[in-house]
Amino acid sequence: MIYLDNHATTPCDPVAVEQMSPLFTEIFANPHSSHQGGKLAANAIDQALHVISETVNTDVEKVLVTSGATESNALAIRGAVTHPRQKRRHLVSVESEHPAVLDVLKDLETDGFSVTLVPVMPQGLPNAGTVDLNQLEAAITSETALVSVMWANNEIGAINPMSEISGLCSRHGCLLHSDATQALGRLDVDLESVKIDLLSATAHKFYGPKGTGFLVVGGGERRVRLRPQMIGGGQQSGMRSGTMNPAGIVGMAVALQRSVDDLKQEPNRISQLRDRLWSKLSSAINGLILNGPSLERHLRLSGNLNLQLPDVEGQAWMSSTPEVLFSSGSACSGHEPAPSHVLNSLGLSESESRRSVRFGVGRFTSIDEIESAADQLIDAYAELASMPH
Ligand SMILES: Cc1ncc(COP(=O)(O)O)c(C=O)c1O
Repeated sequence: MIYLDNHATTPCDPVAVEQMSPLFTEIFANPHSSHQGGKLAANAIDQALHVISETVNTDVEKVLVTSGATESNALAIRGAVTHPRQKRRHLVSVESEHPAVLDVLKDLETDGFSVTLVPVMPQGLPNAGTVDLNQLEAAITSETALVSVMWANNEIGAINPMSEISGLCSRHGCLLHSDATQALGRLDVDLESVKIDLLSATAHKFYGPKGTGFLVVGGGERRVRLRPQMIGGGQQSGMRSGTMNPAGIVGMAVALQRSVDDLKQEPNRISQLRDRLWSKLSSAINGLILNGPSLERHLRLSGNLNLQLPDVEGQAWMSSTPEVLFSSGSACSGHEPAPSHVLNSLGLSESESRRSVRFGVGRFTSIDEIESAADQLIDAYAELASMPH
């Protein structure tokens, strides 16, 4: 099978797997136990946290380990705005955010908070899918506690201008949260140069293990107070109770470090593969449309391709190419096959969304795989398009 779904998840880096292994069988004691075994496990966690904090250029005390970006987003947003010292009751975010942000906001609305969702730049513009900065600034009021803007979008790869957004939040005195899930390991994320108060990540998007993520708390200039969402044993200074997962944390650190080390050459290689897939498909399929931003490096993640077929449903294309693994634009991130809210935010109709698919090229994709996937996709498309519909 040819795996072209690296925005959904990535395979675990074999070097990370190797370094995780002793933490299951040899250094297995509870890292919160005070005996020698516990200290060994705690030490492994400590070293890993230093690696993570160095790769994003922040202080190690600011890194909280979670089970992934879903938990990080919930802790960041709910934790910040429900803290007893936080008196403001308005939040601002963007229409194209992941459900792990949007659903938390919806839930907060039922608790009396008000939420403004800002649109993105429409389909057809080079920066389609990035947040409309004028509307973002217009949405912020003196009541705004927090602004949440994802660093890069998981469906269309649109990269938001985080530096400008950070400056904007600073001027208005509100906290900035960013779901950086798709950015970590793919883009330079340096909290010394771009100040973000709360930054969420999950290891399995950068070749780390699933079920482990982190949240940077206080990566900007402001003091951030969080109300913990998981209470119990008081681990991680009471901010996130529960026994820490040494293997997962070590795997996450190794994977992140290795992805960041690769940032000089890897995005070039990956964008060449992605561009080859696009040029082969677009020259064979008349009327194929690129959804979202242009393929420029500062606007779109290098491995991302989101395409709209002229007359065939994405789901049908997927089913007729079982050897090529990619996502249908309508499958989105949950179990219900609703049309993608991200494509909808670009201005696409339900029918256009159903004719859309997402490809994600990754570290283990080869040029031979791209050639073969493109051939299979072109053949399958020709067959589907020739059927009466
Ligand atoms: C942008 C974004 N945010 C959050 C998540 C959730 O990550 P996890 O399922 O690891 O909690 C994902 C994963 O699909 C994502 O792409």
